[in-house]
Amino acid sequence: MKRKISAVYPGSFDPPTNGHLDIITRASHLFPKIIVSVTENVNKKHIFSLQERIDLLQKTTKNLKSVEVVSFSGLLANYLEKINSFVLIRGLRALSDFEYEFQMALMNRKLNKKIETIFLMTDQSYTFLSSSMVKEIAMLGGNTSDFVPKHVEKELKKRVVSLSKGGYAK
Ligand code: PNS
Repeated sequence: MKRKISAVYPGSFDPPTNGHLDIITRASHLFPKIIVSVTENVNKKHIFSLQERIDLLQKTTKNLKSVEVVSFSGLLANYLEKINSFVLIRGLRALSDFEYEFQMALMNRKLNKKIETIFLMTDQSYTFLSSSMVKEIAMLGGNTSDFVPKHVEKELKKRVVSLSKGGYAK
C-alpha cells in the first residue's frame, strides 16, 4: 500500500550503482514520489562532480516516473524542513552498515524530531556492493559491468582515464 507522502533518498551516489537503483525502485513501490537528493559527503573524496552525479542518476532512473533527482547542501535535517518532507529512505546491505546508519538516523531525529528514517534491504545480490568498491575496481582496471548501469560504466571508464592523467571532479 502506498503512503500519500513523498520520501527522500539522500546520498552521495559517487557513482550510482545497481544497488542504489534497487533501493529507489523498492521505495517507489511504497511512496508516490521519491526525491533522490544528492549532496557532497564531506567524509568522502568524490570522483564525479555534483552535477555529473545528478545527470548519472537522472539517466539511471529515467524509467521511474515518480522519481525526481535534486541536489542539496548543508545539513540534511535543514533541507528536509525546507522542502517539508520528513521521511528518509536508506538502504541496508549488511550488519556492517547498521551502526553508521543507526547513528545517522538517531542524529537526524535529534536535529529534527519530525524526521523518520525507513531502512530498505537491498536485493541479496547487492549486499557486497558499494560505490567505493566500484570506484576502486574501476581505478584498478577491473570490470564493473555487473555493478553499475551501462551509462555509468562508460563514464567511470572515461573518468578513470582522466584521473590517471591528473584530473579530478569539477
Ligand atoms: O551515500 P552516503 O555518502 O552514505 O550518504 C551520506 C549522506 C550524504 C546522506 C550524509 O553524509 C548526509 O546526510 N550529509 C549531509 C550533511 C549532514 O546532514 N550530516 C549529518 C548527518 S547525521
